[in-house]
Amino acid sequence: MKPKISIIGAGMTGSTTAHWLAEREIADIVLVDIVEGMPQGKALDMQESMPVIGKDVSITGSNSYEATAGSDIIVITAGIPRKPGMSRDDLLSTNAKIVGTATEETIKLSPNAIYIILTNPLDVMCLVAMEKGNLPKERVIGQAGILDSARMSAFIAMETGVSVENINCYVLGGHGDTMVPLTRHSNVAGVPLDKFIETEKLEAIVNRTRKGGGEIVALLKTGSAFYAPSAAVAQMCEAILKNKHLVVPCSVLLEGEYDQNGIFFGVPVQLGRKGFERVIEYELNDSEKEALKGSAEHVDANVKNLRDLGF
Ligand code: APR
Repeated sequence: MKPKISIIGAGMTGSTTAHWLAEREIADIVLVDIVEGMPQGKALDMQESMPVIGKDVSITGSNSYEATAGSDIIVITAGIPRKPGMSRDDLLSTNAKIVGTATEETIKLSPNAIYIILTNPLDVMCLVAMEKGNLPKERVIGQAGILDSARMSAFIAMETGVSVENINCYVLGGHGDTMVPLTRHSNVAGVPLDKFIETEKLEAIVNRTRKGGGEIVALLKTGSAFYAPSAAVAQMCEAILKNKHLVVPCSVLLEGEYDQNGIFFGVPVQLGRKGFERVIEYELNDSEKEALKGSAEHVDANVKNLRDLGF
């Protein structure tokens, strides 16, 4: 029997995650959404494309959590984007309820599942999932760092003309404008970035990386990025199911690492069949430490907002 991955929220990121996963042929896939017929329709359409690409996976859609029973991985993308007239608190409260309920309902049916969270504000939603599902920290992993690092790598590849396969970028911290692209640890074929690219150009790339999500939102006008975020989730799923011990930046609960305690925060982690296996700690200089501290303060403030809302 193939492993099973259930995706809660079959919108843009959810359905595109299913697409990338089906191409990798690593698991049967279930899409769940509250919109009647939509997950069923997308799943059937995708299932009908499997003969064309020659992949034997089952893709089903449902409006009920029952369909997720026995999942190895639960991916949560369900949520609402901010609409005109809505405060950030409204978004936080609404998405925290959605993520909390999705976790409570799915953990009953898949007690051993590993949770990958995409819903924003990401770092706080991970905390909600862990608490509502009463999950050990190893089994709650937020997707953000792979996406932010991939954006930076894409910009470096565009600038240098070097293959993306030779570029290793590491973006840490909270998922937002305060994220911390580590230029000193990032490299092109082993050469540190700050030795490979002129300072001004590198600064522009760092700035573009920080605002990468907003750049896509401005272009799309409705909705936010979905190809790169979902590709990142597919990579995480594969690393977990194949027990690859792959090191990638993800948001996990820190308990002392990087001088942080009790918040979900983007750091390099090793992913395997048990979830995240360990945090990899870089030696940081003072300015890098300061930048990470600022980013952590931002996540802390969001957690406080969550508590003020009664979560
Ligand atoms: N249960 C299941 N699905 C739900 C629920 C719920 N309780 N509430 C909302 N949804 C579904 C919506 O019906 C919608 O189909 O979640 C889906 C969200 O999809 P999109 O609106 O297309 O949003 P998407 O681009 O996928 O982003 C989802 O991921 O990257 C983050 O910031 C992004 O928080 C957002 C999330």
